[in-house]
Amino acid sequence: MAWHWGLLLAWVCLLHSAVALLEEETITHFPEIRDGECVFPFYYKNGTHYDCIKGKAKHKWCSLNETYKGYWKYCAREDFASCVFPFWYRRLIYWECTDDGNAFGRKWCSLTQNFNKDRVWKYC
Ligand SMILES: *[C@@H]1O[C@H](CO)[C@@H](O)[C@H](O)[C@H]1NC(C)=O
Ligand SMILES: *[C@@H]1O[C@H](CO)[C@@H](O)[C@H](O)[C@H]1NC(C)=O
Repeated sequence: MAWHWGLLLAWVCLLHSAVALLEEETITHFPEIRDGECVFPFYYKNGTHYDCIKGKAKHKWCSLNETYKGYWKYCAREDFASCVFPFWYRRLIYWECTDDGNAFGRKWCSLTQNFNKDRVWKYC
């Protein structure tokens, strides 16, 4: 009986990796859509991204769909994620950029309302 289970498990694993491979490969990467709008956060591969990402590309880019479906654009200045106010950091609510917690005294802001949970930020 144990032998059967082992075989079944191996089969299921195989099927899983085949499906994963297929999903990876069925994404068609369309040409850049310059007038598209970045969607944040977006899911690409197994990561959640709150801002334009570099990846293997030459320039930073973003996905135009919540889950990457092959639609993308390179990020221009105005495409990068912007500060979200107010945001929650430690025990305080911030309505503007702050240098709290920054070792270099540089102002930063959160890219989501809850920095404590999401921990994504940028310099202001
Ligand atoms: C996807 O997850 C695996 C295992 O958790 C990790 O090793 C890998 O770096 C992740 N890939 C990306 C693109 O985040
Ligand atoms: C993804 O976003 C693009 C650009 O906004 C849109 O044209 C396209 O229909 C979307 N695709 C899906 C599958 O949602």
